[in-house]
Amino acid sequence: ISLKDYNTFGIDAKAKFFIEINSTNDLREALQLNGYPKIFVISGGSNMLITKDIDALVLYINIKGIEISTQDDDTITLKIMAGENWHELVLWTLKKGYGGLENMSLIPGNIGTAPIQNIGAYGVELKDTFVCCEAMRIDDQAIKSFNKKDCKFGYRDSYFKNEGKGKYIIVSVTLQLTKQNHRINRSYGAIESELNKKNIDRPTITDISNAVISIRKSKLPDPAKLGNSGSFFKNPVINQTKFDTFTKDYPDAPYYKVSSNAYKIPAGWLIEQCGFKGKRFGDAGVHEHQALVLVNHGRATGMEILNLAQKIIESVRDKFVITIHPEVNIIK
Ligand code: EPU
Repeated sequence: ISLKDYNTFGIDAKAKFFIEINSTNDLREALQLNGYPKIFVISGGSNMLITKDIDALVLYINIKGIEISTQDDDTITLKIMAGENWHELVLWTLKKGYGGLENMSLIPGNIGTAPIQNIGAYGVELKDTFVCCEAMRIDDQAIKSFNKKDCKFGYRDSYFKNEGKGKYIIVSVTLQLTKQNHRINRSYGAIESELNKKNIDRPTITDISNAVISIRKSKLPDPAKLGNSGSFFKNPVINQTKFDTFTKDYPDAPYYKVSSNAYKIPAGWLIEQCGFKGKRFGDAGVHEHQALVLVNHGRATGMEILNLAQKIIESVRDKFVITIHPEVNIIK
């Protein structure tokens, strides 16, 4: 079967074997099938670039359900099954008046994959509301619970991208949200100007969500219309020595100080300076409003997108002596 509708890049790769998983039990049974040495897990398909046909058993994780674990006057803890769509979950929490996810509105993908790269946007990351997740160990189908510490969250990074890679399949995620509006995060200038435009002084969580939605819609392509995986690269972090040279050469470059000896430089800016913004090579391209996003104009293959990514990495390295790294999982 074609995986085109199962990855937001819209790459038309084929899967030899494909099973839709609707429950933990389905998952256990699928993993116990004999004769499949390799499995390949797909869920929202929003953070991967598939560069070849998949010669493995593809497990499409579509386990649904949201349940309330605990609650008091201020907080509510929700256990969400892996196949729930992220943005639909955010909208549901807003309707109920539960705060904490509003800054992460409109991120593509499903909840089960959110911990793997600790998704984040506009000053908030998954780890800020994360309590724990349950995952099935592929080897013996045992369910293991991981708390926040076990997950070793970092910038678009976690245990599941490192030591735990390929060993577990996340089946549920538990988040703690607030019932009051006291944790509003408006630290991002872009949110502030969106609120000013609408003359909102004291935003509700829904106001923040609406602001984020309009910012994202103006910069980031809708995967339903134009294949993409959000930011293709991570923003590189450089040390003081490198930063000093960099700012001397490029005094107008944007940056964020992340610690006393580390500076994050927006990769989108670096890529734009190399002249790639809005460029197109066949059907593989760089988004016209955000150079950090690579797009599939229709029939690009995963290899074509990967070649473009490689070309960008080399240009940025030649011009700035900074190496940028992909944020999406490259399936080779
Ligand atoms: N910029 C340019 N040219 C561009 C793109 C950006 O000059 O083509 C400059 C902007 O002017 C701005 C700076 O780069 O000064 C940062 O841009 P922006 O605020 O759009 O954020 P970003 O660093 O490009 C990160 C995340 C996004 C997240 C936004 C908002 C990463 C890799 N990306 O992007 O996350 O939505 O901040 O918080 O950290 C994702 O991970 O898929 C994603 C979309």
